[in-house]
Amino acid sequence: MASQPPRVCVTGAGGFVASWLVKLLLSRGYSVHATVRDPNDPKNAFLKQLDGASENLKLFQADVLEYDTLTSAFAGCQGVFHPATPVIGDKLVDPEKEIMAPTVKGTRNVLEACSATNIQKLVVVSSAAAACLDPNWPEDRLKDETCWSDKQMCKEIESWYCLAKTEAEEMALEHGQENGLHLVTLLPGHVVGPLLQTAVISTSIKAFQYIIKGGPDTMNNKFWPLVHVHDVADALLLVYENAEPYQRYICALEQMDIKDMVVLLRSMFPSYDYVDKTVDVDYKLNFTADKLKKLGWKPRGLEETLADGLQFLEKAGLLREPCRLPYIYRMNAEE
Ligand SMILES: NC(=O)c1ccc[n+]([C@@H]2O[C@H](COP(=O)([O-])OP(=O)(O)OC[C@H]3O[C@@H](n4cnc5c(N)ncnc54)[C@H](OP(=O)(O)O)[C@@H]3O)[C@@H](O)[C@H]2O)c1
Repeated sequence: MASQPPRVCVTGAGGFVASWLVKLLLSRGYSVHATVRDPNDPKNAFLKQLDGASENLKLFQADVLEYDTLTSAFAGCQGVFHPATPVIGDKLVDPEKEIMAPTVKGTRNVLEACSATNIQKLVVVSSAAAACLDPNWPEDRLKDETCWSDKQMCKEIESWYCLAKTEAEEMALEHGQENGLHLVTLLPGHVVGPLLQTAVISTSIKAFQYIIKGGPDTMNNKFWPLVHVHDVADALLLVYENAEPYQRYICALEQMDIKDMVVLLRSMFPSYDYVDKTVDVDYKLNFTADKLKKLGWKPRGLEETLADGLQFLEKAGLLREPCRLPYIYRMNAEE
């Protein structure tokens, strides 16, 4: 009798990063339990069309704030990937409800549901946001996996996303060690690349779209640790299959600031306007992904990453209309 394919669950499977991971897992022979908050929402229909989905993909309704929905989805799986987190570009009205609870309590529920369903391995999708805000990190040293965002500083500057991702990741690693759950975290930089559906445009893609189109909003000229969505999906599977437990992995390319990125993009694609309203800020993000590369991660280069992201937007007709920069990236954020 043929052996059963390995079975894993992916939370928030309709999202930008998660959907590419689902596609990759199916192509590698995994059987996938994919959770979405609303299986009947047409924006999630594309999941059922993925190659191999008819045999190996099962959709589950689950909200990370509803523990029982998670245990139903995890039952029978050996592993779980947890990317489900709201990535909100708009101004937050209630950060606790909109970001903190789904990220931190949501991750707590995922951890407990993993323990309750005998999950052997969990990969938590954290973010470079959980390692970017350490005021004591030496300026001349690349940030590596020993760097954690300072939670007090996150609160002071009201960087709720950074705070939520930091708290969730810290708690996850602690829970894993205390409960013997094989757990690894991945910290992607700013993710660009093609979307598998265009019904919903993710926040990180909207920001990239604005860099290409330009418009009324001012951006701060920060360093961006970019990464291609395919390389994130590859990294997630790589750490699932190969990493030792309780490790964090930064997943980003070499960085450049927005102005230099625009110079590079313009040299490859001269016909766009590009963002011209930028303000220099004293804030450098310099990460190293050497640890992930030593594990075998081979990301595409920066130029290919940028070109692929732009060409997708072009083909999808997403560079025709004027656009706004998502609120959270704006310097003129009062508007
Ligand atoms: N994109 C980036 O640049 C970037 C960088 C670093 C880290 N990350 C991390 O990567 C992960 C995925 O990000 P993404 O860019 O792919 O975002 P995305 O496209 O907005 O996907 C987020 C997913 O989370 C789901 N979700 C939100 N709240 C939920 C809840 N209460 N219960 C269940 N699912 C919920 C959403 O489901 P609905 O469709 O139902 O809303 C959506 O499928 C996140 O953990 C994010 O922090 C992203």
